[in-house]
Amino acid sequence: MSILPNPLFLLHGFPMDARMWRHTVSYMQADRLVLAPYAGDLMSAETPSMAMMARGAMLSADALAPASRWVVAGLSMGGYVALEIACQFPDRVAALVLCDTRASADTPEGKANRDAMARAVAEQGVLAATAAMREKLLAPETGEDVREELAEMAASRSPDEIASFQMAMRDRKDHTGLLPRISVPTLVVVGEFDTISPIEVAKEMADAIPGAHLAAIPGAGHVPPLENPDAFHRVLADFLDKHRL
Ligand code: MLT
Repeated sequence: MSILPNPLFLLHGFPMDARMWRHTVSYMQADRLVLAPYAGDLMSAETPSMAMMARGAMLSADALAPASRWVVAGLSMGGYVALEIACQFPDRVAALVLCDTRASADTPEGKANRDAMARAVAEQGVLAATAAMREKLLAPETGEDVREELAEMAASRSPDEIASFQMAMRDRKDHTGLLPRISVPTLVVVGEFDTISPIEVAKEMADAIPGAHLAAIPGAGHVPPLENPDAFHRVLADFLDKHRL
């Protein structure tokens, strides 16, 4: 009797969408079921929150593979949702992959920056308001094609969507207390040039999670699955093989 590999749930970062995972979807779907939704589709019209995105994620997971245990992978904002899923639905999580993210909540300054960006998108439009932030996302050596892809993804968002994601991130819970209680295999990944969720943050998170693996992706900034997909996929495939997921 063959045992099917666990399905893989991919949660993208901000201000991106599921295209952020396009290489990973192509690479992984040869072996397993892969779901990479747009985070905006996981929220309803209520006040946007990570809790709501986690519930929305599990509803879409159930529609595809009811009662399955998922490998839940999230990058940055997607990592905040992944931790919320691990908190609310631990029985549905077979493993966690936390990429370029953090468990702590926003500082007061971080919260004020969220409010400023929500105002700026309404006043200046999405591309202008996210330009400085997008510049920080990528490693200096990352190619122009990836920079353009990032701009295209941002340009597909409406000012209201950007504001909703900012509010959900601003009000997210601090999950540092959850980390020592995570009992599933966990991979913490970080781009070596990530300045938004840098390697020290990833190391601290990996140290707090029992048995977690830490991997730095060479040549990448905050978005390794787009900046160095081959290295990212090697690390992910090794982790999945090692834990027979
Ligand atoms: C992301 O890439 O999702 C963002 O950097 C997350 C954040 O703004 O905290």
